[in-house]
Order: sequence, then C-alpha cells, then structure tokens
Amino acid sequence: MKKRILITGGAGFIGSHLARRCIADGHLVTVLDNLTTGFATNIPGGCNVINADIADPETLSLLPSEGFDVIMHLAAQSSGEVSQENPDLDLKVNTLATLMLLKWSMQNQVKRFLYASSMAVYGNPERLPVRETDPCLPLSFYGISKVASEHYIRHYASEGLDTTVFRMFSVYGPGQNMENLKQGMVSIFLAYLSKNEEILVKGDRNRFRDYIYIDDVVDAWCSSVDNPASFKKTYNLATGKKTCVHELVDAEIRLFGRDRDTYPVRYHGSTPSDQFGLYADISAIRRDLDWSPKIDLEEGLKRMIAWVKEGHRQS
Ligand SMILES: NC(=O)c1ccc[n+]([C@@H]2O[C@H](COP(=O)([O-])OP(=O)(O)OC[C@H]3O[C@@H](n4cnc5c(N)ncnc54)[C@H](O)[C@@H]3O)[C@@H](O)[C@H]2O)c1
Repeated sequence: MKKRILITGGAGFIGSHLARRCIADGHLVTVLDNLTTGFATNIPGGCNVINADIADPETLSLLPSEGFDVIMHLAAQSSGEVSQENPDLDLKVNTLATLMLLKWSMQNQVKRFLYASSMAVYGNPERLPVRETDPCLPLSFYGISKVASEHYIRHYASEGLDTTVFRMFSVYGPGQNMENLKQGMVSIFLAYLSKNEEILVKGDRNRFRDYIYIDDVVDAWCSSVDNPASFKKTYNLATGKKTCVHELVDAEIRLFGRDRDTYPVRYHGSTPSDQFGLYADISAIRRDLDWSPKIDLEEGLKRMIAWVKEGHRQS
C-alpha cells in the first residue's frame, strides 16, 4: 500500500538510499534535510523536499498537519569526533530534535517511527559479540545523544507509537561522503587511495569493527516497516563479522589495484572517544525480520571502489 513517508536526513548517505528505495516502491516521500553533511544531488527525483533545520522548532510547522504514515528519522550530527568538539550541537541536533519530532508524531497521528541509532551506544563492551541487552556505556557525546534519544523513543513507544530502533554498525557503500574525513573508516581510507595519497589511520591497527553494506541496511529498514514483530524493538544492524582496521586497509589497497607491500600507510595518533572494537550479535533482527546480510565485505568493497573510480559523488 502506498504510504506517506518522512525521511529526515534524506540527503545524507543512508537516508538518500532509503529515499530511493521508498520512491521505487511507490511511496510518497518527503525529505527533510538542511544539507550540513548531505547533498541536494543525493535526493532522488520524485521526493518532496524541505530544506530546514530539524533542531529549529519552527521547522515542525512546515510539516503537513495530516501527518505521515511512517517517519524514518536519520537527520543527525553523525560524527563521534565532531561531537567531542561541540557536544552542545550534538545534544540539540541529535537528542532535542528527536524529542521534538516524537512529540510532533504523537500530536499528528503518526503511527510508525524508525530511528537511526548507533553502535556508539555500547562504548567498549565487555562481552562480544555485543547483544542489544548489554549495557550502554557510550564513550562519545555522540553515543550519549543516541542513548538519550533511544530512551525518549522508549517512552513514546509505551504511549502507543510503533517504534523501531536500529543500532547500526559501520555502514559503507556508494554514496558515502568522500570529502568528510571525520566519519566512516571505509570512505576515509578510500578517499586517500583515490587521490593516491598516504593513508593516515588515526588509531590502533588492531581496532576492529563490523562493516555492513548499505543495501543490506536498506533491506532491513524497509522490511521492518510493516512487520509488527519489530514494533517497539531495538536491533543491532550489522553482519556479526569482526574485521580489524589493518585488514580493512589491506583489502582496500588490494581491491583498488595497488600493492599492499609498498602503498604508504601511517598509523598515527587517535580519535577522541574512539571505541576500540566491537561486532554484533544479530540473532534478534534475523529472527524478527527474517533478514540476513547478503553482501560480504569483499563484494561490498568491490562495488564501492567501482563507484569511486567512476568519479561519482552520489549513487
Ligand atoms: N554511517 C554509519 O555508519 C552510521 C552508523 C550508525 C548510525 N548512523 C546514523 O545514521 C544516520 C545517517 O547517517 P549517515 O551516515 O547517512 O550520515 P550523513 O551525515 O550522510 O547524514 C545525515 C544527514 O542529516 C542531515 N542533517 C544534519 N544536521 C541536520 C539538521 N540540523 N537539520 C536537518 N538535517 C540535518 C545532514 O545534512 C545529512 O544529510 C545518522 O543519524 C547517523 O548518526 C550512521
């Protein structure tokens, strides 16, 4: 059935992929974004576009009073590093804006609310793979803003809103912002490679992550929309696979067609509030959504490198 869907952050990496899928599925899509890290060229044709700041209370008056069937809330200050430089901004854009949008949803008959949370909520977990029920002890202000937002969402879920929270791990793929060197390891290293520059890795080579390809992320979000098993739930959205940073760097160099033994790589310094390592238990999302990741890291990197070599910024 055709739905009216609001995608906040729809000019960004993940939001624009979701918008494209929702348009292709025949839905009526409104994108709300102020283009801080997103690009107007990312937004697919056919969307209604509202260029406004989600943290400005006036923005809510630009939304239609008949509401939406579904809200996918992704607009955010999305970098842990930036959150350490400006925690006030993070609180406003990530948490206060989420609270305002939740209140607006309750007042305007929105039934379904999907939220982009993050692995940052876990900090450095004691047990791996990390489960949704494990403690949330974020290291960064960004992680704190996501945990706080999750609690506001839980509150409104108890008042009747059908929510789903996705704690996404390291998402990568075509459409990632190749100019932003403060977010996204895969894209940061590829940005150096594409310019034939030394790869600067800020932090330990043995740190590890769980890298998930964008199409798998979009599949999970879209398959949850109408699935009551996912209502009022929180999921890790990841692959369950552990990859060390040095393994990622090596794979990118090799798949880019460069020599792993001679290509210059420098491990230097660190990123404030960086997590050392985590990968996810994904049994809950597998069970409830009958979903599983389809694209492994090798295949995903090949696709992303092909996109980089074609010189595209938007996918
Ligand atoms: N990329 C990842 O690996 C990852 C992992 C976990 C969670 N997330 C979360 O997923 C969401 C999308 O991330 P992304 O990677 O696509 O990042 P992104 O930076 O590409 O997208 C965020 C979008 O929000 C917009 N935005 C920022 N501030 C805004 C404001 N005040 N008003 C309106 N729009 C604003 C930006 O312009 C951008 O288009 C974010 O909430 C992020 O925290 C991302």
